[in-house]
Amino acid sequence: MKINKVEFLISCPSLSKCPDLNYPEFALVGRSNVGKSSLINLLFNNKKLAKISSTPGKTQLINYFEINNKWFLVDLPGYGWAKVSKTTRASWSKMIQNYLLKRENLFCVFVLVDSRLDPQKIDIEFINFLGKEKIPIALVMTKIDKIPKRELEQNINKLKTELLKNWESLPEIFKSSSSKKIGDKDILNYISTILSNSLN
Ligand code: GTP
Ligand code: MG
Repeated sequence: MKINKVEFLISCPSLSKCPDLNYPEFALVGRSNVGKSSLINLLFNNKKLAKISSTPGKTQLINYFEINNKWFLVDLPGYGWAKVSKTTRASWSKMIQNYLLKRENLFCVFVLVDSRLDPQKIDIEFINFLGKEKIPIALVMTKIDKIPKRELEQNINKLKTELLKNWESLPEIFKSSSSKKIGDKDILNYISTILSNSLN
């Protein structure tokens, strides 16, 4: 897919403040610090688009980017960040769940998973929640520059095994590295295919 235009549109504190449903929408979710905002900057080759931080919890709102006057990409706050109060965490997670369950033009949710780690309970639970709710997903293994290839494949296999306990078939799994610029084309092609299928 050729990217002609990328514009930051709006940051929304809740679903009710999200823009009118005029475009197909794709969202990025995942644990805090997994690399969601970095992936947005990689996809659109612009380091200043989404705010990145080594401190987890940087993204606290639903951030909308409008692409090619045709679709939205949404950067969501991360889940599983320990360093906030329970109440704050609960209200964030409620806000994200509300968005995921009710946003009607949501075509696919990319769940980002840190490729360096063994399957994390919180990720599996989140992926299973999306599956149970029949929300279309794809997975992105992030930070692959930080792990040897063999270990990466082992971790992907462990994740697959874990998911197959609940899933009959596996979602698409992408690999990305924001620092080495890997994965952007595959992900954009996938979005492009979904968009063109939706027109048929
Ligand atoms: P929240 O907004 O807090 O939920 O985090 P996030 O998921 O948006 O993560 P963010 O993109 O801000 O990245 C977190 C940290 O990981 C930053 O220090 C990034 O530079 C680093 N990072 C992200 N992606 C990669 C990657 O592919 N490779 C490497 N080496 N570092 C990465
Ligand atoms: Mg972020």
